[in-house]
Amino acid sequence: CGIVGYAGGRPALGIVLDGLRRLEYRGYDSAGVAIVCADELLTEKRAGKLANLEKVLGERAEADPTDVDCGASTLGIGDGTTGIGHTRWATHGGPTDRNAHPHLGPDGKVAVIHNGIIENFGRLRAELEADGATFVSDTDSECAAHLLTAVLAKLRAAGEPDGPRLLASAMRQVCQRLEGAFTLLAVDARVPGAVVGARRNSPLVVGRGDGENYLASDVSAFIEHTRDAVELGQDQIVLITADTIEITDFDGQPADGKDFHIDWDASAAEKGGYDWFMLKEIEEQPEAIAATLLGRLTDSGEIMLDEVRLSDQDLRDVDKVFIVSCGTSYHAGLVAKYAIEHWTRIPCEVELASEFRYRDPVLDRSTLVIVISQSGETMDTLMALRHAKEQKARVLAICNTNGSTIPRESDAVLYTHGGPEIAVASTKAFLTQVVACYLIGLHLAQVRGIKYADEVAAVVDQLQEVPGKLRALLDRIEPVRQLARELKSAPTVLFIGRHVGYPVALEGALKLKELAYVHAEGFAAGELKHGPIAVIDQGTPVICVVPSSAGRGMLHDKVVSNIQEVRARGARTIVIAEEGDQAVLPYADEVIYVPRTPTLLAPLVTTVPLQVLAAEIAAARGHDVDQPRNLAKSVTVE
Ligand code: G6P
Repeated sequence: CGIVGYAGGRPALGIVLDGLRRLEYRGYDSAGVAIVCADELLTEKRAGKLANLEKVLGERAEADPTDVDCGASTLGIGDGTTGIGHTRWATHGGPTDRNAHPHLGPDGKVAVIHNGIIENFGRLRAELEADGATFVSDTDSECAAHLLTAVLAKLRAAGEPDGPRLLASAMRQVCQRLEGAFTLLAVDARVPGAVVGARRNSPLVVGRGDGENYLASDVSAFIEHTRDAVELGQDQIVLITADTIEITDFDGQPADGKDFHIDWDASAAEKGGYDWFMLKEIEEQPEAIAATLLGRLTDSGEIMLDEVRLSDQDLRDVDKVFIVSCGTSYHAGLVAKYAIEHWTRIPCEVELASEFRYRDPVLDRSTLVIVISQSGETMDTLMALRHAKEQKARVLAICNTNGSTIPRESDAVLYTHGGPEIAVASTKAFLTQVVACYLIGLHLAQVRGIKYADEVAAVVDQLQEVPGKLRALLDRIEPVRQLARELKSAPTVLFIGRHVGYPVALEGALKLKELAYVHAEGFAAGELKHGPIAVIDQGTPVICVVPSSAGRGMLHDKVVSNIQEVRARGARTIVIAEEGDQAVLPYADEVIYVPRTPTLLAPLVTTVPLQVLAAEIAAARGHDVDQPRNLAKSVTVE
């Protein structure tokens, strides 16, 4: 979910809505705002995308712009200067108006928004209901609004002085009762000018303005207003007013946030003339890879990874590597396994973060766990990382988001310098993650001085050539768009590949599922005959990722045989092959040629036509390419 809070001197509504628009990629099945205006709480919330909420707010302004009677004047929701807003990715309770945030306490004066899951909400709700509370939603979040209202009432009854600090103190007491992961923001109409936030596990950053302050799930929400931000730690409460930011821990002890400056260009988070962020992000891949390599390769072919705070001795001691991640980042790990094992001869396992800790993996001090996360906030991955640390493994994060939770909790981090990725489905993050894994693999190989040293030097050169090759590929991608229009009505699309082409097939299928809602599956080409081939029907499109014929010629020929097998069963074969590969022509209904690239690096080029294909099929089917249904970019629940 995306959350925004504002306290300052300007009307809050527009600022909160702008922030929500920039955070909408975090969840978009409902949205809502609560604005404190004079000493009234004005709220509006709606199921569906933010546009639905904006429409209702527009109608409200037209019909009755004056909600609050202040004697001489009247004010509307657009006038209040303190507010909070939320864009939701549903967990408890379907995406309805009722379940949208904010949730109000029973007196209608307190509004709360929440990201995460309150695990003990069943017990809390039963307790509150036994005391006479009536719940109006199915969410876990509503109980936080009830609890906060009750604690505030108790503190006021005990004669505690009213004001912002009372709100912070009440929030602390609420947090002590909650289990699970949460970011909470709250306002109380009797405390105008203050927003209180609480953070456990889920992300929350503060934006420091001039006579105004912000709270948000990530900096993109307030980057147009300020570039000075404060990162909160675990289990902290933050209270903002127009002029103050006060941070305490859950026990009320003063705590420090970590100041940082946001240095990326705000325009990086704009569409820049493209119809969709995703098309822009696909185009940005050559630069994203170049930026990820920049400064990390010396002229003599050495890999320099200075942000990796693990000593050479630590790396020499590694006897096993685990790569743990989710979604597209998991596929990056699957690609990396081939390279890491080949270059380092260290066994490397790749595992879905949501499975990892529950199966009791064998980990110890000499295990290197590489966690990959674009957002740095994925809860499954964070929990896997904590489990690995508890077992004394060394954890190295590959991440695209500075200052996020996963790199902060890891022993070391290698940032991918892909720039902000806004489209929900990942493209440039995937390629930069693969590159980052390669850098780690090459570095491990160099430090350990293994027998492939010559090969490593050659790979360093080849990696530098990838951005140029990608640019050339993207400059002649038009036929793939054309093909997408032809495939738009296919009910099923299969993807096959061998070796590193297998995870590329999985990623191609995932992109198509995510964006176009088409049934798509990726298979190891050699496995097809052991079952999946039965689903091939007359005309079923099968996208075949063919390895280079140089070097590992046997692999190439095997895939060509697999193409013949599917074609003999009626498949329409769409072949991704390297330039000059004539051998595929007799068996290909269509060929998409990609620049020649050594086998292990091939995913950096072969994935790209699959991304374009998925995005264009989705657009041709009339779907929102950037915000596919049911998904969120940053999933901060387990
Ligand atoms: C979500 C997104 C996916 C992403 C996955 C992992 O499910 O929809 O696109 O690959 O999370 O995200 P991460 O930020 O950890 O790489």
